[in-house]
Amino acid sequence: MSEKWLTTKVAENRHWTDALFSLRVEAAQLNFQAGQFVRIALDIEGQRVARAFSFVNPPQEPALEFYGVIVPEGPLSPRLAKLRPGDDLYVAGNPAGFLVLAEVPDAETLWLISTGTGLAPFLSILRTQTPWQRFKNIVVVHAVRHAMELTYREVIQSTKARYVSFVSRETAAGSLAGRIPAAIADGSLEKAAGVALSPETSHVMLCGNPQMLRDAAAALAARGMRKHRRRAPGHITVESFW
Ligand SMILES: Cc1cc2nc3c(=O)[nH]c(=O)nc-3n(C[C@H](O)[C@H](O)[C@H](O)COP(=O)(O)OP(=O)(O)OC[C@H]3O[C@@H](n4cnc5c(N)ncnc54)[C@H](O)[C@@H]3O)c2cc1C
Ligand SMILES: NC(=O)c1ccc[n+]([C@@H]2O[C@H](COP(=O)([O-])OP(=O)(O)OC[C@H]3O[C@@H](n4cnc5c(N)ncnc54)[C@H](OP(=O)(O)O)[C@@H]3O)[C@@H](O)[C@H]2O)c1
Repeated sequence: MSEKWLTTKVAENRHWTDALFSLRVEAAQLNFQAGQFVRIALDIEGQRVARAFSFVNPPQEPALEFYGVIVPEGPLSPRLAKLRPGDDLYVAGNPAGFLVLAEVPDAETLWLISTGTGLAPFLSILRTQTPWQRFKNIVVVHAVRHAMELTYREVIQSTKARYVSFVSRETAAGSLAGRIPAAIADGSLEKAAGVALSPETSHVMLCGNPQMLRDAAAALAARGMRKHRRRAPGHITVESFW
């Protein structure tokens, strides 16, 4: 069956650093839940090349926004970074994904933990009403290599979320050093957040680097937390970006 593609026009391509960019495209009629992704595509040498991208915008906003990093050897991301206002971008008609609050059981504290562009789906979730109605505390954790990659801080800080950042490859005031799994294991993450990270109080959503997902899930397992499944409720929901 051939896929249904919407043709959208780029409205803005913001470059945060040499590698990080945010694409805004004009409204396309799409139904999705905050936290979901959609395939976006360009035609490259006669072939439609498509990749999954999480929505940054909440569903109620008409313009779509995607947050990307240039993977230098990748076929699509360097070309997305070069798009200019007025260029075409193809967007698939079928958003999907399970990193959504409808799949998350009730808890006192919701942890939204990401590396790199894995922050994207959480930005959409944060800008909907649901998390603020359902959870007493929301903690946003964002880990990057360099401080200048701590993007969208003003969006996060405009909400009531607690914000904990990690910068792993330089010293950065106000950010933790090292990696998320080690900080889960030694208690420094919950100390920085000021709330407990426990199976009794917390649900954790993880997104980004697949090795971080595995290492963080192992550190959470050592605290008695397990993957959430519809038939076997747990405390961890994950989405891997590759
Ligand atoms: C469900 C889902 C949602 C996604 N949402 C986003 C998103 O919102 N933003 C985004 O930038 N990417 C996202 N991705 C990854 C995206 O689909 C592409 O893989 C990425 O843009 C690179 O595309 P490429 O064709 O240049 O290289 P690819 O051939 O797709 O990837 C080459 C390699 O680059 C690395 N890589 C891929 N994506 C990333 C990344 N995001 N950060 C760091 N390293 C990476 C991996 O090592 C991968 O093997 C998502 C992937 C999935 C499965
Ligand atoms: N970020 C850049 O400056 C940059 C520039 C140009 C191109 N790129 C391309 O983008 C890709 C990488 O992007 P990225 O920097 O956003 O993603 P990343 O490599 O996943 O790094 C993001 C954060 O995740 C951490 N991390 C990595 N593995 C982890 C694990 N197992 N457990 C816990 N934390 C872990 C990293 O810590 P560590 O630092 O300890 O690994 C870093 O703090 C590469 O393909 C690269 O070529 C990146």
